[in-house]
Amino acid sequence: MSDDDRALDRVLALELVRVTERAAVAASRLTGRGDEAAADQAAVDAMRRELNALDIDGTVVIGEGERDEAPMLYIGEKVGTGKGPAVDIALDPLEGTTITAKAMPNALAVIALAEAGSLLHAPDVYMDKIAIGSGYEDGVVDLDRSAAENIASLAEAKGVPVSEITACILDRPRHGETIAAVRECGAAVNLIGDGDIAGVINTTNPDETGVDIYMGVGGAPEGVLAAAALRCIGGQMQGRLVTSSAEQKERARRMGIEDFDRKFSMHEMASGDVIFAATGVTDGSILEGVKTRGKKMYTDTVVMRSSTGTTRWIKAEHTKLSKFY
Ligand code: FBP
Repeated sequence: MSDDDRALDRVLALELVRVTERAAVAASRLTGRGDEAAADQAAVDAMRRELNALDIDGTVVIGEGERDEAPMLYIGEKVGTGKGPAVDIALDPLEGTTITAKAMPNALAVIALAEAGSLLHAPDVYMDKIAIGSGYEDGVVDLDRSAAENIASLAEAKGVPVSEITACILDRPRHGETIAAVRECGAAVNLIGDGDIAGVINTTNPDETGVDIYMGVGGAPEGVLAAAALRCIGGQMQGRLVTSSAEQKERARRMGIEDFDRKFSMHEMASGDVIFAATGVTDGSILEGVKTRGKKMYTDTVVMRSSTGTTRWIKAEHTKLSKFY
């Protein structure tokens, strides 16, 4: 089957823009209010409402949590009118709940949609991740190598000294050794407080973002969403679940993962035809946040399709008093 034969309807790409725009606008109302749960809930409600208006037979495979702990957009929830194509959906209505509550940069509303059966069903545990942008031979970096080895290999592939490489890493105590190792070998570290989907996407445009490589442990759901984005925009990524208890292993097993040490490639996390969309909630490295000017609201969205490799940047003006807002 050619890529074109199995390509998802391209209209869906624009439909997804509406979905993330609405989630971002809803969450933006709670920016800086110190209430993470309310911001997340607003985004979830808006995203769910918009998804249910789409002509898709959708199943949430990466969502707000597992069925018993998330009342909405839980893993396994069916969304859409049921009339269209069968699709897997990975979503994070508000990537960066803390960021939003504190009005800090890089909060996003994010969704990926793929033909049914093609997104990794990952439990809400941690994932060890490594990612770089496009233009490199396969295997330049690998989760099984040390941070210093990966930095040296990437610098050689890029044709620059190690001192010109910057690694983006979540600022967490668990990354103390990795951060020290990167600095010791002469590279720079871009520490982020939250939001590692943006961290991974930043590797695809090092000239703008200054980030060459993402490394470290973050959420597994965010890992699958980031892999979906890289499938569309180009790049390399690997992920390995970090299951620290029997209970977490059991949750992974329930999702069909038996080998807990397995290293997933980008294509194993997001195969087939994929569409990825994200709208900025707060200003960030890839997107501007939602702005209100008088009676208008402005959003900034990126939407990408793997089948064509097209990336669209969509700035929209919304009438604030419309029925949606
Ligand atoms: P939330 O939007 O769920 O708050 O996630 C933000 C985030 O920073 C992710 O980008 C990242 O993958 C994860 O949290 C890291 O988890 P932790 O904060 O437990 O280190």
